[in-house]
Amino acid sequence: MKTISLYLLVLSLLIVISCKNVVNGTCSDFDNKTDSILALMTLEEKIGQLSLFTSEMDQTGPFIKREYEEEIKQGKVGAIFNAYGADYTRRLQEMAVNNSRLKIPLLFGYDVIHGHQTIFPVSLGEAASWDMEAIERSARIAASEASAQGLNWTFAPMCDIARDPRWGRISEGAGEDPFLGSAVARARVRGFQGDDLSSTNTIAACVKHFAAYGAALAGRDYNSVDMSERVLRECYLVPYKAAIDEGAVTVMSSFNDINGIPATMNRYILTDILRDEWHFSGFVVSDYTSVTELIQHGTVPDTAAAAAFSVNAGLDMDMQSAAFSDYLEILVQKKKVDEKTIDEAVKRILKVKYMLGLFDDPFRYCSREREEKELLSDENRAAARDIAARSMVLLKNQGSVLPLDKMIKSIAVIGPLADSKRDMIGSWSAAGDFNKAVTVVEGIRAKCPSARIIYAKGCNIDDTDQSKIKEAVAASRNTDLTILVLGEAANMTGEAASRASLDLPGIQQYMAEEVLKTGKPVVVVLMNGRPLTITRLNDYFPAIIEAWYPGTEAGNAVADVLFGDYNPSGKLPVTFPRSVGQIPIFYSEKNTGRPSDPDNKYTSKYLDESNDPLYAFGYGLSYTTFSYSNLTLNRNEIDANDTLIVRVTVKNTGKRKGEEVVQLYIHDRVASVTPPLKLLKGFVKTEIEPGEEKEIVFKLTAEDLKFYRGDMSYGCEPGRYDLLIGGNSVDLISSEFSLVLPL
Ligand code: GLC
Repeated sequence: MKTISLYLLVLSLLIVISCKNVVNGTCSDFDNKTDSILALMTLEEKIGQLSLFTSEMDQTGPFIKREYEEEIKQGKVGAIFNAYGADYTRRLQEMAVNNSRLKIPLLFGYDVIHGHQTIFPVSLGEAASWDMEAIERSARIAASEASAQGLNWTFAPMCDIARDPRWGRISEGAGEDPFLGSAVARARVRGFQGDDLSSTNTIAACVKHFAAYGAALAGRDYNSVDMSERVLRECYLVPYKAAIDEGAVTVMSSFNDINGIPATMNRYILTDILRDEWHFSGFVVSDYTSVTELIQHGTVPDTAAAAAFSVNAGLDMDMQSAAFSDYLEILVQKKKVDEKTIDEAVKRILKVKYMLGLFDDPFRYCSREREEKELLSDENRAAARDIAARSMVLLKNQGSVLPLDKMIKSIAVIGPLADSKRDMIGSWSAAGDFNKAVTVVEGIRAKCPSARIIYAKGCNIDDTDQSKIKEAVAASRNTDLTILVLGEAANMTGEAASRASLDLPGIQQYMAEEVLKTGKPVVVVLMNGRPLTITRLNDYFPAIIEAWYPGTEAGNAVADVLFGDYNPSGKLPVTFPRSVGQIPIFYSEKNTGRPSDPDNKYTSKYLDESNDPLYAFGYGLSYTTFSYSNLTLNRNEIDANDTLIVRVTVKNTGKRKGEEVVQLYIHDRVASVTPPLKLLKGFVKTEIEPGEEKEIVFKLTAEDLKFYRGDMSYGCEPGRYDLLIGGNSVDLISSEFSLVLPL
């Protein structure tokens, strides 16, 4: 017995000594440290590190399925997700470090997507702010709250480009464009991971869903993805790479197959691209049971093969399917999987644990004191309110109906979402308690304490019950102004929430038009997680604000915008179609050989619909107006060594301060591949005082003009370019320049 305890004492000392150096950063190479532990591990313990299991937390408080507790104690679990709380994570961590032979600490992961307890706007809404500082701040606060509850890993940022709003998960990302999507991805990684992953208020990020999950055929979640290599690389892969280049330490493989090979066993994306081309050195975790789902995909006959094909393709950790824990040992014995492959996976996972400081102090994230102080603090709520207001997009404001007068005497607030706390925080709202959310009705009451405010539901979100309309019409008739709050239930977007129609659900449009008949002024607040086909709403109503799901401070933020305490500055990160039949529709479309011509039947258009969107990418109004002039370039041509300096004057031509998102697009006139009519290559969000003129400067180089050329080589080509600038992707002023040799 003495021999064993001596062995364990030496072992512990070895681990502590090795770890101390790592955390203090004096250790030059994580590899040496992970190698030292790996050398001590049995095959069973190695496989344990590759297994991630969920902790089923329910309303009676956290519990975990018995078998996992035992496996944690035996060192057979590398990470747990859906477990949070200083005490609860401490209890699970104690099971791992006090009972297992090698005392390797657990990772604790969770879907901290747009806030942890203080909930920020859904990600698509945050992206609509085009405000990278705000987005980073949101992720920073989320990381701090999550780490205060024992979490050290989030399954975010979701970097999936989405051009099909039928897909419910469009709400979780940053929309249709790789340039904007990349900027948002970088901001979120910075926010989550900070400058030092070992500090106790930062958490490991996870770039998901790798790859191209947002291109599901027919917008139907989990459906197949099939696209050219060029579109994959030129569009869908770009934000993932941006997040990885920003330092994200984990990646999650996606449910879908890509060009016939499921991502979870797709060596081309998990190893050839991710490791060999991008030099990603973190670890890859599968999505929920996506390893065993390979059987459903029809690419493997059984779970053992699923485990073998996925780990050999480059998957390091198996989320929840237990395929790795049940089969890898036998697969190694049968030489279907090389133990070296497992060693590599284990090292990647141990390295992240080192980087988080978990070997130095496994309980560093389990602070009851921080938990009590930080969660839902006034400061965090104030930040959520500010970012929610910045995320809202003013879609229409005919006759400057908005902003409203706070001294108004009476207001009817009508609609199935107006007082729904649950829907204010949207989907994937982590540990957010919707009971703590401020509804739109509450926000308006707080903003206008002296006004008589009547709330009427008007109708349900998604049924044909007309019994509540009469009451709503009466409320509108008996007040000076009506605010309609319409849209989708929070669970109508997010995972497994695809819709074949993008219309307002139920009879909301009918109810709204019945209310409009009162002749009272009516403004519309939309709460939704995807573009909707709201052409009738746009035709009938003078003012429409896209509020998305604004989060914990929803009502206050909506009121700030409605009553002008915040001048809306959001711009759409995704195109709003006129009808679902136009999908996929996005701004960076191509000219075709027969561009639409209303006077020529034989050109690219519909018989029954316009080619144009209802609202374009990059579109959003303000309570003030801006003009663009003096677009100048420092040179008429650039080669590989030159920088094109672009200057434009933006003037606030209105009567109140406002922020404008100045967008820069380019159009390559002739290329070896059909060039998009425009591509976003820069944006600046800036605040301008009334009457003030600001000169905005952009810099472009040949690097910014690279693309996958006709032979699929990545580079640029000499030629003539249009350079387009404006406050959206349609109303643009232009100049031109040439790219010349040498390149
Ligand atoms: C879900 C989602 C993924 C999430 C994971 C863990 O199915 O696809 O985004 O991170 O499972 O909850």
